[in-house]
Amino acid sequence: MKILVLGSGAREHAIVSALAREDTAHEIVAAPGNAGIAQVATVVHLDPNNAVVVADYALAEDVDLVVIGPEAPLVAGVADGLRTRGVPVFGPSKKAAALEGSKAFAKRIMEEAGVPTGRATRAGTRAEVEAALDSFGAPYVVKADGLAAGKGVLVTEDRAAALAHADHYLQQGTVLLEEFLAGQEVSLFFLSDGSTVLPLSPAQDYKRLLDGDEGPNTGGMGAYSPLPWLPDGFVDEVIDTIAEPTVRQLANEQTPFIGLLYCGLILTEKGIRVIEFNARFGDPETQVVLPRLETPLSGLLLAAATGSLGGIPRPTFSDDVAVTVVLASEGYPDAPQTGRRIDGLDDAAAVEGVSIAHAATSRSESPDGGTIATGGRVLSVVGRGSDFRQARERAYEAVSRIRLEGAQYRTDIAARVVAE
Ligand code: AMP
Ligand code: GLY
Repeated sequence: MKILVLGSGAREHAIVSALAREDTAHEIVAAPGNAGIAQVATVVHLDPNNAVVVADYALAEDVDLVVIGPEAPLVAGVADGLRTRGVPVFGPSKKAAALEGSKAFAKRIMEEAGVPTGRATRAGTRAEVEAALDSFGAPYVVKADGLAAGKGVLVTEDRAAALAHADHYLQQGTVLLEEFLAGQEVSLFFLSDGSTVLPLSPAQDYKRLLDGDEGPNTGGMGAYSPLPWLPDGFVDEVIDTIAEPTVRQLANEQTPFIGLLYCGLILTEKGIRVIEFNARFGDPETQVVLPRLETPLSGLLLAAATGSLGGIPRPTFSDDVAVTVVLASEGYPDAPQTGRRIDGLDDAAAVEGVSIAHAATSRSESPDGGTIATGGRVLSVVGRGSDFRQARERAYEAVSRIRLEGAQYRTDIAARVVAE
């Protein structure tokens, strides 16, 4: 197959790597890609958010399947532009992607479908915000309604901070105030062809910047998969009570969801609750889920894109476990310092069981041709092993071999699972 992957992060690097290691050889093209992706795929410079440009390219180059990594092209309607012109695409329409882009839309779908989630109130004025904060009580959960690159949610005991966060996002529209949910978080991905869903393996990500879940929310500082502490029957329960009802509701509303349904869940004392849906693979969870996938990814993605997941067995996963540690630039997430040189990558990748997914890198223009960091989250260092102790040791050994001035990373990824 000729497969075009849109995006430039570690998630897309993990997708491209999974496609590249299948028994059947594929021609893989990524746009715009990064320095790591360029080692496994052909990189082309086209605007992934321009539906016409992407569809023109896919048709001219006889692309068999387009895989959309990030949310921006989805929200820009790139999947619609491809589907209209007959190109198989793994990624939902702009309307269905509102499941991620609009918290209010997601809440309505969950309500109609009877999907368990936290109670929430929408507020358009400061007075409404204050009333809702007081009715829910602390800790306060304040969410921007639209896409906010992982920065839209504030969970705080501090009423003044909650109000200030709400004030900021009220300038852009409405905000959502939600009941606080306590429990372990789980990311569970489903492939969906609009009616049938197939689960991938559960993962947990670490959203806060610092060890011990301190510091600001980020795009994700690490992850591990699978989750050995999940109760039996967890995945089936999520299929029955969350994924299938949601996909059915969207289909009933003529907005079929074709792509990756990311269920962000919390395991509360009262049962499983949805915290959020995303309309794409999670980052960095994908970097620990896809390396463990044994079923060829291309077949699954094409079947989802062409409405033929029905009858396909559930994807299978290796018994190996995976841990990823994200290496971020100094100053991330507020003001990352970019343009710095990264050394030791080959040394790090030489650690047994380790692979490195590039998140924001490019080849240096200088004659020595090194790699430079071009963004906040720079690398996802992935360690695999037969147990979490081994996978974790491998990942951190590799991290210790990488040199990037001012780099930040968490030291406690998957520590809890090893301790247990
Ligand atoms: P979101 O962008 O909706 O995934 O929220 C980011 C993070 O905020 C989540 O991963 C949770 O850790 C936290 N969060 C969101 N909603 C809630 C809630 N209702 N109760 C507790 N924590 C929450
Ligand atoms: N890991 C969180 C996300 O992808 O949104």
